[in-house]
Amino acid sequence: MDKPRTHVTSLLTPRKERRSERRRRKQIATLQQRRARAAAAGARPAKEKPDKSMGAIPASGEPGPAALRSWLRFTVPPHAATSATLAGAYPFLAEAGLGTHGVLIGTDTRSGGSFVYDPWELYRQGVITNPNVLLAGVIGTGKSALAKSIATRSVAFGIRVYVPGDPKGEWTAVTRAVGGTAITLGQGQDTRLNRLDEGRRPAGLTDTQWASMVWARQRDLLGVLTETVLGRTLHPVEHTALDAALTATTRTPGVPTLPDVVAHLLNPDEGTEDASLLRVEGRDVAHALRRMVHGDLAGLFDGPSTVKFDPDAPMISLDLSGVTGNDTLLSLVMTCASTWMEAAILDPDGGKRWVIYDEAWRIMRHPALIRRMQTQWKLSRAYGIANLMVIHRLSDLDAVGEHLSEARALAQGLLADCSTRIIYRQESDQLAHSAVALGLTDTERDTLTSLGVGQGLWRIRDRAFRIQHQLTTGEHDLFDTTARMH
Ligand SMILES: Nc1ncnc2c1ncn2[C@@H]1O[C@H](COP(=O)(O)OP(=O)(O)O)[C@@H](O)[C@H]1O
Ligand SMILES: [Mg+2]
Repeated sequence: MDKPRTHVTSLLTPRKERRSERRRRKQIATLQQRRARAAAAGARPAKEKPDKSMGAIPASGEPGPAALRSWLRFTVPPHAATSATLAGAYPFLAEAGLGTHGVLIGTDTRSGGSFVYDPWELYRQGVITNPNVLLAGVIGTGKSALAKSIATRSVAFGIRVYVPGDPKGEWTAVTRAVGGTAITLGQGQDTRLNRLDEGRRPAGLTDTQWASMVWARQRDLLGVLTETVLGRTLHPVEHTALDAALTATTRTPGVPTLPDVVAHLLNPDEGTEDASLLRVEGRDVAHALRRMVHGDLAGLFDGPSTVKFDPDAPMISLDLSGVTGNDTLLSLVMTCASTWMEAAILDPDGGKRWVIYDEAWRIMRHPALIRRMQTQWKLSRAYGIANLMVIHRLSDLDAVGEHLSEARALAQGLLADCSTRIIYRQESDQLAHSAVALGLTDTERDTLTSLGVGQGLWRIRDRAFRIQHQLTTGEHDLFDTTARMH
């Protein structure tokens, strides 16, 4: 760094000064200036002296009136204007985006820049507090297309995708296109899923630990299933009856299946205590599960699995379009299917995975399923899972269960646990609700009714992006859901 220099100048000019006095004062000032320069030059090493023959300009600038320097402070009077005027005066401000890590989604309609998204990366950077995503919009606005793009483009990054329930069967072609496995379930199909399969064994567990883990998982699944069919929580004795039946089933060699459990529920081992009590009290449970063995759900879960669940496949979807009937029936199948998948999903060594719930509002009608989703949501960070939930409107979450019910609280909790909220076009009666639930500004709220197909407001923490999702031609043909309407 250069040494400090002294510059001498007349700062004050007395008001009524005579010309001779002024000249005298200037002479003194010039003299002092020269002395100061000489002193500074003496202190400076000779080689630092500017070489005038080379035409170099001194570091302190040219002396004289062309120096463009002033001892006065440079001040600009403050100017106030509205943001609308300033945007016109200075239109070059643009959203910086979220970096360059992740899959390409499309373009930011405000800046024209490309928009990429990677929930794991954003989570790592601390931008978001969890990797879960909520996607809401009216029918036909391109929600499924976006979910499919995220899925298929993520596969290229080595991220696996699970679709635990596809009620319309629209993911089957997509799954097969990326080399994944689409499992088709429904009445009249040969496919069987045994929901009591052990699943994949995580590394580092002893035999005893693994056995108790499998038992706990099977027991949990049976409980959820029974509660879904019964539409109520289980009584303590019914829990005991289920425990006893499952224990008896696992004691026999071979893979336990649902018919075995039902058989043990209907006829508890005589050796067990209170066998007759369990037979009587466990009747509701037995008949609820029997529905899946001999009733209207027979043929789906009543035998050993015929398909192998390969957790290493790039993508797995469960096509439930063949499951006709009411929503309870569908969600029952979804419970079985998703819990069956869960064993693989909840593997901490499984790497990054997307779990996509298209048409999630259907699942939301069933408290037992919401509870499962909620557990998975909470565990997402630990297991490297990002959940994507597709619904129509945010008020779907309010339509769950009774006012102040556990189910409603769970559904609201799911929204709270989605750091990324993508809002596609909304009906005008939904605007106020969406704006409050998501903390949107008035401008953001007003854009919600005018969003086109594939356009969404991406709300990530307190930032909002208006993104046009871009489909490639190949994707457009593969994802098209309107073709069937013609
Ligand atoms: N980004 C997009 N660009 C162009 N067309 C799109 C885009 N997204 C969706 N579409 C079209 O809209 C149709 C409906 O999309 P879909 O994802 O099924 O809607 P939703 O799941 O919201 O009901 C698709 O068949 C596709 O042809
Ligand atoms: Mg859809």
